[in-house]
Amino acid sequence: MIQKTPAEIVLIKKACEITRDALILAKSLIREGISTFDIDKSIEKFIIDSGGTAPCIGYMGYPCASCISVNDVVVHGIPSKNIILKKGDIVSVDIVASYKGYCGDATRTYCVGEVDDEKKKLVRVTKECFFKGIENARVGDRIGKISHAIQMHAESNGFSVVRELAGHGIGRKMHEPPEVLNYGKETDGAVIKENMVIAIEPMINAGRKEVALLSDDWGVVTRDGKPAAHYENTVLFTAKGPEVLTLEKDDEYYPR
Ligand code: MF3
Ligand code: CO
Repeated sequence: MIQKTPAEIVLIKKACEITRDALILAKSLIREGISTFDIDKSIEKFIIDSGGTAPCIGYMGYPCASCISVNDVVVHGIPSKNIILKKGDIVSVDIVASYKGYCGDATRTYCVGEVDDEKKKLVRVTKECFFKGIENARVGDRIGKISHAIQMHAESNGFSVVRELAGHGIGRKMHEPPEVLNYGKETDGAVIKENMVIAIEPMINAGRKEVALLSDDWGVVTRDGKPAAHYENTVLFTAKGPEVLTLEKDDEYYPR
């Protein structure tokens, strides 16, 4: 269902805490020389040790707990022993954790050592897109309010919005209605309802918006080879406004 019950929200919040803490763990592991395979294995172990499960494993044949996407890989990078992080890379870590049947979904793009100014700005603006997206969105608005604000912020900074992928409702399944586009008009999309839970996930390219699929049939790359960034949180809408369930407590946007 699009609107969750209080009991469901308790479980979603727990799944979101595991997801957030798995990201914090991933961040602590990011350094030159580590493989994306080793990062994924640590994430998987953390989720299991926390009493959760990793629903990405086996999802349409996907082999891993997380998606780890480096530089021009926008999303769905399959972790690999052959993908070794190096200084100057940006790396998007996308994690779904499930707890007692309910999911949380979040992504961060991390920098490996010093990265160039374009990448630095891309990572910052992609995160800002998420917060611009929820800033003015309230119960009764359309999802398009979020979508439009994301697109405006990305494009006004000279970046582009990937069209082929979107955010989504989340609950028992990691992908539920409604669809949460990262572009469009304020009047588009489903009406935001109280106790709706959605994953909002701007996927922003430094260059052109076009993407291609890697030969592994999962990895999505920019066609122009320029870098891409991804920032995602699971968000609950209450009568008071949006509540970001996967946000780190020391984040500059964490409500105080
Ligand atoms: N976590 C992704 C999302 O943000 C989906 C992961 S695809 C999977 O929607 F194959 F890894 F499961
Ligand atoms: Co998602």
